[in-house]
Amino acid sequence: MGLKTWYDAQIMPRLVTCACSQGQVLKRRAALIPLATGDVFELGCGGGINQQFYNAGGITSYAGIDPHAGLLDSARAAANAKGWPADIRQGVGESIPFPGRQFDTVVCTFTLCSVEDPKRVLSEMRRILKPGGQALFLEHGRAPDANIAKWQDRIEPIWKPMAGGCHLTRPIGSAFRGAGFEVEPMGQGYLPKAPRVAGWNEWGIARKPGM
Ligand SMILES: C[S@@+](CC[C@H](N)C(=O)[O-])C[C@H]1O[C@@H](n2cnc3c(N)ncnc32)[C@H](O)[C@@H]1O
Repeated sequence: MGLKTWYDAQIMPRLVTCACSQGQVLKRRAALIPLATGDVFELGCGGGINQQFYNAGGITSYAGIDPHAGLLDSARAAANAKGWPADIRQGVGESIPFPGRQFDTVVCTFTLCSVEDPKRVLSEMRRILKPGGQALFLEHGRAPDANIAKWQDRIEPIWKPMAGGCHLTRPIGSAFRGAGFEVEPMGQGYLPKAPRVAGWNEWGIARKPGM
């Protein structure tokens, strides 16, 4: 096994899990994820960290995808621990393996930064949502401060291969708006105790127009 393959399989998932599990991030997940209702789809469900926050009472079905085969067992175990049936598959957001207009809620946390083609993924999220459906998002991305954004541009080429393809410079709310969603922001700001280049977060609800 080459060093890069070993790093990507053993070290990188641990670093990412650690960064995505810090207290302030969990607090934001705890505010957002319980808003999921009806038929729910989670993009980039990873090892299943969001499972603990779902309010199972308001959910009629749960499905999730992630391309990282090594994470799917943990995601399935987390769903089993929750005690609900879950359809968790290997797949990518650029080609979501579910029919159109199937879901009431799409959940997307810290995933748009890592996908290959965010425009395609946002279009797929819109496709699988029922008209009037909601995408719950919590993402990190391009900072509004020019000085921080300048450093994000500089650091991204070094950061990306070390962080599983994660980009620092992607817009968040404006990307959802550009994809035709109506965005209801819930919050935004730098994560305390995180480097600002990687710490700008935006979270909220992006609705697919229609009834
Ligand atoms: C930083 S982790 C976040 C995991 C989880 N969503 C969370 O909130 O902790 C990024 C996730 O995106 C997944 N991912 C990468 N490329 C993807 C793609 N094209 N489509 C869907 N998920 C992708 C990764 O495998 C990883 O699980």
